[in-house]
Amino acid sequence: MKQTEPRHPRQILVTSALPYANGPIHLGHMLEHIQTDIWVRFQKLRGENCTYVCADDAHGTPIMLKAEQRGLTPEQLIAEVKAGHERDFAGFGIEFDNYHSTHSEENRALAELIYARNRDQGNIVAREITQLFDPEKNLFLADRFVKGTCPNCGAPDQYGDNCEKCGATYGAEELKDPYSTISGAKPVLKANTQLFFDLPKYQGMLRHWIQSGALQEGIANKLKEWLDAGLQQWDISREAPYFGFEIPDQPGKFFYVWMDAPIGYMASFKNLCQRRPELDFDAYWGEQASTELYHFIGKDIINFHGLFWPAMLTGAGFRRPTAVWAHGFVTVNGAKMSKSRGTFIKAETYLQHLNPEYLRYYFAVKLSSRIDDIDLNLEDFTQRVNSDLVNKVVNIASRTAGFIKKLGGTLSPDNANRALTDECQAAATEIARLYEEREFGRAMREIMALADKANHYIDEQAPWALSKQPGHEQQILDCCTVGINVFRLLVLYLKPVLPRLAQQTEAFLNIGPLTWEDHDYLLLDHAINKFKPLLQRIDPQQVQTLTEAARQDAEREARAAASTAPPVSGPLSGEPLAPQIQFDDFAKIDLRVAKIVSARHVDGADKLLQLTLDLGGETRNVFAGIKAAYDPAGLEGRLTVMVANLAPRKMKFGVSEGMVMAAGPGGKDIFLLAPDSGAEPGMRVK
Ligand code: 2FM
Ligand code: ZN
Repeated sequence: MKQTEPRHPRQILVTSALPYANGPIHLGHMLEHIQTDIWVRFQKLRGENCTYVCADDAHGTPIMLKAEQRGLTPEQLIAEVKAGHERDFAGFGIEFDNYHSTHSEENRALAELIYARNRDQGNIVAREITQLFDPEKNLFLADRFVKGTCPNCGAPDQYGDNCEKCGATYGAEELKDPYSTISGAKPVLKANTQLFFDLPKYQGMLRHWIQSGALQEGIANKLKEWLDAGLQQWDISREAPYFGFEIPDQPGKFFYVWMDAPIGYMASFKNLCQRRPELDFDAYWGEQASTELYHFIGKDIINFHGLFWPAMLTGAGFRRPTAVWAHGFVTVNGAKMSKSRGTFIKAETYLQHLNPEYLRYYFAVKLSSRIDDIDLNLEDFTQRVNSDLVNKVVNIASRTAGFIKKLGGTLSPDNANRALTDECQAAATEIARLYEEREFGRAMREIMALADKANHYIDEQAPWALSKQPGHEQQILDCCTVGINVFRLLVLYLKPVLPRLAQQTEAFLNIGPLTWEDHDYLLLDHAINKFKPLLQRIDPQQVQTLTEAARQDAEREARAAASTAPPVSGPLSGEPLAPQIQFDDFAKIDLRVAKIVSARHVDGADKLLQLTLDLGGETRNVFAGIKAAYDPAGLEGRLTVMVANLAPRKMKFGVSEGMVMAAGPGGKDIFLLAPDSGAEPGMRVK
């Protein structure tokens, strides 16, 4: 049976969203990279010219702040983080053609080019806006340097660009009760000039592009709503201090991280072109490019990829993406990943405990072309991997290979079950269609249905029973040859998902690397190698060990965050040291993460604020001498660290049930210790 393959390989460029260079890869990132990698591997298996690039997204204020906190330069931090990202992706078998950085010369040149071309087209508008300004530090405050109450949902303590609670994006000046995270001062509004990309100019082009099939239906509808509501000009500049590229004709102003981040896709490809002369940059990015360009992204960044990016590319005379494909978020056991429950799992931690192909398979089972969230239910994960991969697929080989070896190690020249092998071979067309459409879950179900049929056939033939009486050797060899052939076809169909299993199978079957075309023939009269176990069952205990390790990771991070808080006043501030204590004295202190549920002024008290703290189920009333430094409204909803086992103390204004940890020289400069943002009330700080 011949397939109707396109004669000329498709030229495809594929990207995954660029991870920020300020933290490790976790299972949320892995969903997207596994989804992309499966699709790319499928295309390569089919013989298409498919190139997969990615990079670290290395700019922006959070990275600058994190470097500062760690006492590193941003360049040192991003180099360290990138090495970790590349190691983790490789561990999960993510096979990039190139992994680069947005902090690269290619990206600088392309960002400047795209900016200059847009400016020359009249697409960049300088506008005077009022911005928040820190009157104590005398500087304009970038979004991340301002916090306050979300103007959309009222959640306290949100950054100035978007709300982590409700996902709304807004300008920092829209925050209620804002405060500068640098000085704690209340920012004032001051006029300043910023550069804007004139997005409304591309309203017509975007309306057309959105309806061109480039987006999933739900996403296209959402973007259409935004278009109908009217687009706004987009602020692409940020004030120093900022880690990024300075805008060439605007000293002291930098490209906003989201301006140069997607350009990082081009930069990574450009960097690859230097190594691969057969790749022509213009053939992939030129206005008339006939190649295909696909971006895999999370549904939270669709505005950047569905509006700004195609408009900026168009304004600079580059092509637009063929499609942007969004996926949903990862939940674990039905809830958002949580550090205290041990379900915020870093890629590195997973790899220390479980085979990466288990997760690749489980995500494949769950993935479709839709944007529904994907739940990693750890019990279902264990059962699914054991029942599908171990008990169904690998079982076919483990029940048949031994008999073949005993009978000389060479497969029969005859096909004893043509109906079954025909069905398995014919399934290639539908499975390929499902991969192409990103309906991986449906593809996995097709494959498992074939595995069931093969196991049923082997059960019926029962070679183990036949082997007990002499004279059935040919029948056993024939049956096991069918089994091995179905196994080979199934492993071929699973190869985009399970490349390592495929490689081990190729070695076992004594064949070269399988390509999709290989479904066209069977392996008959062929010598195979000794079978070695290919996959182990998951023991539920391993999963428990993994979540415990993830919990410990979170605790370690909380401790590290506490230790990078501003220094406590000590001998350098001129105060004598308190009498020495023994370690045992120190160990008695039970430090816990506490959430400030409410904060109030105390009538008649000069220095105190009254705090209601949530310790993860238990509520405490604490009086803290931080009135000079904090506006009570700005404290509500924030996490801090408290001494949870301090005996209650009767004070003039009431009983204080513990103490919050703060450090700094005093007065206005006193800072509440802030645990890592993933910490949860009640979590122990060690
Ligand atoms: O949301 C994020 O994690 C961004 N770092 C994604 C950037 S994707 C692309 F535009 F660079
Ligand atoms: Zn909100």
